[in-house]
Amino acid sequence: MAAAFQGVFDSLPVPPRLLTVFCGVYAAYQTRRLLDFVWFYCLRPSSVHRYIHGPAPYALVTGASDGIGKGVARELYEHGFNLVLHGRNEEKLRKVADEIRARGNRDVRYFIADASDPSHDFAKLVGPFANLNITVVIHNVGGSSIAEDGIDSFTDASLAGIVHQNAMFPLLLTRALLPSLAHLRQAWARHRSIRRLRYRGHYAPAARRLRRLEGVPPRARARPRQ
Ligand SMILES: NC(=O)c1ccc[n+]([C@@H]2O[C@H](COP(=O)([O-])OP(=O)(O)OC[C@H]3O[C@@H](n4cnc5c(N)ncnc54)[C@H](OP(=O)(O)O)[C@@H]3O)[C@@H](O)[C@H]2O)c1
Repeated sequence: MAAAFQGVFDSLPVPPRLLTVFCGVYAAYQTRRLLDFVWFYCLRPSSVHRYIHGPAPYALVTGASDGIGKGVARELYEHGFNLVLHGRNEEKLRKVADEIRARGNRDVRYFIADASDPSHDFAKLVGPFANLNITVVIHNVGGSSIAEDGIDSFTDASLAGIVHQNAMFPLLLTRALLPSLAHLRQAWARHRSIRRLRYRGHYAPAARRLRRLEGVPPRARARPRQ
């Protein structure tokens, strides 16, 4: 067996020592990636508890009736947050809220708004939550199939809806929430999936796009409206 390998090495047009160095560097690189993975998914302590402060802290999660948003909402609830959920389908969202409430005794509220609809009155939307201690905002709703379907397969109205859902909805929602976020020490709007996407090099473009949707930038300071 060893002799067979020796034969292969001898037939390569690269000096064996160089090949050994290359294999060593590659193995070190892969080992580093594996250790990063183990650290990130298994060992790294959660930092979410630093956002549990003040009386009855709430996390607001958009697009929480399904997928990542629902999973993140559930996880935040289990970490001790009360929740304000957002979605567009009341029946679905009510079911999710009931499901999460059944896991503990904290508060779970929700509001309905189609994020692609530009006609919302955001002050009215968030009015019922104005007095809550919201310490985390996660702008999860977003995305589109433009990359797959091509820009010419959408009508003007559906393109405008996509832009609104991805850019204007999180922006206007954040602005409407600012007065109730005035006590925030630091805003936070990341979830594990985003971090995972960031971690994986081949998803970097999606991660960058998601980072732009992360909402309140870390050093944002809420200023009272004039
Ligand atoms: N999953 C991935 O691999 C991946 C990769 C890259 C980026 N992302 C991003 O991560 C986020 C969540 O992805 P996901 O896979 O969890 O998506 P998903 O399963 O489709 O869930 C999206 C959530 O957003 C809601 N939603 C969608 N459009 C809405 C609208 N116009 N108004 C209000 N609510 C709306 C959905 O409500 P309904 O239940 O009513 O549909 C659902 O609750 C998105 O921003 C997506 O672009 C995901």
